Amino acid sequence: MTLPLVTTIESVVFSAADIALAIQRMAEEIARDYAGREIVLLGVLKGAVFVTADLARALDSIPGGPSRIELDFLGVSSYGNASRSSGEVRLVQDTSHSIEGKHVLVVEDIVDNGLTLRYLRMLLGGRAPASLAAAVLLDKPYNRRVEVPVEYVGMVCPDEFVVGYGLDYQERYRTLPYVAKLRAEVFDA
Ligand code: PRP
Repeated sequence: MTLPLVTTIESVVFSAADIALAIQRMAEEIARDYAGREIVLLGVLKGAVFVTADLARALDSIPGGPSRIELDFLGVSSYGNASRSSGEVRLVQDTSHSIEGKHVLVVEDIVDNGLTLRYLRMLLGGRAPASLAAAVLLDKPYNRRVEVPVEYVGMVCPDEFVVGYGLDYQERYRTLPYVAKLRAEVFDA
């Protein structure tokens, strides 16, 4: 059974205003740290599309920040099954330009068990960037399987399955302008 989207939302966890404020705070920190530098914002498809776009525009509007902001994306996919949540991550779409010698900031919507970001840091770190750091809108630190550094965190997410602002459940809900918790019926449907 497919329920209408709005009726399946139990509560809003982070409003659009919360998200905008968190992104602005991250952008101000990043602008300070990368002042005068050329930076590559590397969004991780698909979930980070919205945060990458909003962070790029927030950064661009801060005087004295990076001298140039290049946008690029890559796609990763996690796979495994219920009995073996392997957390294996693989690259399904690479960047369009080389990152060698560049200041790279990986942008993620969420870090949960940490495996995706660890994989990306190892992969990208092996490509000789000038520097590598991560900016993550939502840090969900309760179920880490690996420790991984996150230099810029927007907000700490409660230990709930959340959707919206890029985050999906079975490819739905990504376009919500806020982050929300779903009603339990959704998972039973
Ligand atoms: C989500 C999210 C991160 C990853 C984080 O992506 O966008 O990339 O999971 O989880 P982890 O810390 O537990 O590894 P997902 O695999 O759902 O793909 P999507 O972005 O295309 O929705």
